[in-house]
Amino acid sequence: MKFFIKNSILEKEKTDCIIIGVFESCNFESDENYLHPSICIYINNLIKKGDIDGHIGQTLLLYNIPNIICERILLVGCGKKNNLNRHHLNKIINSAMTVLNKRSIQNIIISLKKIILKENDIYWSIRGIINSINAFLYKISEKNIYLNAISFHIKQNNYLNIAQNALKHSLAINSGIIAAKKISDLPPNICNPLYLSKKVQKLSEKYKDMMNSTVIDIKEMENLGMNAYIAVGKASKNKPYMSVIEYSGRNIIKKDQKVIILIGKGLTFDSGGISIKPSKNMHEMKYDMCGAAAVYGTLIAAAELNLPLKIIGILAGCENMLGGNAFRPGDIIKTMSGKTVEILNTDAEGRLVLCDVLTYAKRFSPDIIIDIATLTGACVVALGNNFSGLFSNNNDLACSLEKASYETHDKVWRLPLCSGNEDELHSNCADFSNIGKSKAGAISAAYFLSQFSKEYKWAHLDIAGTAWNSGKKKGATGRPVELLSQFLLNKSQFL
Ligand code: BES
Ligand code: MN
Ligand code: ZN
Repeated sequence: MKFFIKNSILEKEKTDCIIIGVFESCNFESDENYLHPSICIYINNLIKKGDIDGHIGQTLLLYNIPNIICERILLVGCGKKNNLNRHHLNKIINSAMTVLNKRSIQNIIISLKKIILKENDIYWSIRGIINSINAFLYKISEKNIYLNAISFHIKQNNYLNIAQNALKHSLAINSGIIAAKKISDLPPNICNPLYLSKKVQKLSEKYKDMMNSTVIDIKEMENLGMNAYIAVGKASKNKPYMSVIEYSGRNIIKKDQKVIILIGKGLTFDSGGISIKPSKNMHEMKYDMCGAAAVYGTLIAAAELNLPLKIIGILAGCENMLGGNAFRPGDIIKTMSGKTVEILNTDAEGRLVLCDVLTYAKRFSPDIIIDIATLTGACVVALGNNFSGLFSNNNDLACSLEKASYETHDKVWRLPLCSGNEDELHSNCADFSNIGKSKAGAISAAYFLSQFSKEYKWAHLDIAGTAWNSGKKKGATGRPVELLSQFLLNKSQFL
């Protein structure tokens, strides 16, 4: 899809359709260089006849409009005057797209005069609309997409730059979201740890002036002492691979630019291991690599935005399987940090993989580490499917993530790092056990990770409830690529 920003005279535009908003019980008044008064009068008469009353998402397609070059106008209901939020915007765009995605309609212009957030924010309106359009297009298969160019029409010259920026940012971030969704939706017999590492290699070749990648295999993990990571992966024929991408923006100003590390849980399948999961919906555990996919997608967005930052993405690829060689409940494992862990449940594997990656990451002397993981079912119980769990040992970092979340509506909710139970992870034969004692499963998992992240600013996103949809709409959501990309974009704007 091609996108453009326009601030031409609407009635002189040659296009298949112009989308125009109408408010509930409002006169369609003509004002400053919007639409020629005669067209407004024409539309107003139609509204008066009662064919459309302006409810959110209502549509009315008009042909043969006088004094205008375009073939059609699509009126869409925008609800109460100047009262649109992101949900409304999404609804409006969805119904407009449904009406307009026809063979004969290939290019359209969306007038932002009324189809705009109530704060009148051009930037976030465009970001929101493009998100909705892309979500719509992702749903339908490619051969059913007829639209090929979408323009945004704004009246004010002085907003052109802002609009162009919104467009640029949206497209970059969206390419990251799509990449993350695609890789997450792959079946586990295709997308295994080796496959992830190949994707990373290809990515670093594509952006070779900004990226370098290295892949750590099980041999090297052994040398490094990453025994917890290895324990999880060793029963599978698909051996673990940890893929590391170093991104360095072309236009970095500071020599000593601080490093931000993103670590993604990349369990390409989580059977639970010896503590095997119930078989109902076990297939969904192919999505246990959505954290890694989000890191992959975010790096694409960063490269497309050419962010002047140093970012290291680590995809912790691994498969948790059963077998004669599998780790077991009762095993005691020495992690890379030197701390020992008593395994009480082999299904609490994400934290074992991540704890070694968190230790490994120290070699880059990072300023910030964010890990992203489909870590606990308990997080889904606590927060449902709209909010990712946010945990952090640093308030500034948590606030920046909350800000990006608030802006993008890629929602997070902060949870405490400590359940209040001092002996949450107590073991009488190791430094920690790998599961907690309380019911606060999301917290005890985060607390476990925090024990390996004391030396830097660290945040953990538990995306178990937000990374994919179940049931009829089964599929990856691409979250939290937008949140992370926005976080990075905000960071680079403060440089
Ligand atoms: N990948 C799962 C978490 C998960 C469960 C994500 C359901 C999405 C939906 C994770 O590895 C896991 O199995 N966690 C266990 C931990 C428990 C054994 C302490 C869980 O949440 O049940
Ligand atoms: Mn598990
Ligand atoms: Zn898992």
